[in-house]
Amino acid sequence: MKCLIINGSPKANGNTAVMINEFTKNFKGEIDIINPFKNLSPCLDCGYCTMHKKCCINDDFSKLLLDDYHIIVIASPIYMSNLPGPMLSLISRFNFLYNNKVNLNYKHSFNPKRAVLFLVGGGSASEMLKGDFNESNPIAQAKYIFKKLNAQLKEKDMVLCLNTDEMSVENNSMILNKISDIAKSCNEE
Ligand SMILES: Cc1cc2nc3c(=O)[nH]c(=O)nc-3n(C[C@H](O)[C@H](O)[C@H](O)COP(=O)(O)O)c2cc1C
Repeated sequence: MKCLIINGSPKANGNTAVMINEFTKNFKGEIDIINPFKNLSPCLDCGYCTMHKKCCINDDFSKLLLDDYHIIVIASPIYMSNLPGPMLSLISRFNFLYNNKVNLNYKHSFNPKRAVLFLVGGGSASEMLKGDFNESNPIAQAKYIFKKLNAQLKEKDMVLCLNTDEMSVENNSMILNKISDIAKSCNEE
């Protein structure tokens, strides 16, 4: 069983990192982690993929396309009620699928896989953040990534921790238990 984790946080020891650690502690298979803050460019609209069946940028996006994993985890903070900028850069890179289809009549296909989503937010900064306005965009953006990769997200595989200003993930045993349960259920796939 192989799992690819997309870490959407720039922080080495932040709340997202704690969620990822809880998952990796309990998942027994192989794990690879990419972080769009570190090694992932946005689409530069260079046009290469209108003529070739791939993207010419050499970075961690290619690990997503290897399609050699059975589970994909997106673990990310919410920034301004969206995924952080580098995660949106990642989304822009799927443009090559569109260009390949339209210009080369070539459709990529990805193996079916399980999707897991961990979202974290401070939550208490403004009244506006108390409704689902805060998480609806990031959930839709994560689902967009999953859809492109043929990963199916079930409600039970989604963990939202939206009050880290009040309680860090580290101190939130309910969230940590949910994550370890998901990791253990992944071992039984
Ligand atoms: C630029 C920025 C924007 C943020 N915007 C939101 C937001 O819209 N909603 C929210 O709930 N938290 C927001 N936060 C708070 C983070 O999501 C929260 O602190 C989270 O726990 C950070 O995760 P990390 O420690 O893994 O980086 C924002 C934080 C930053 C730095």
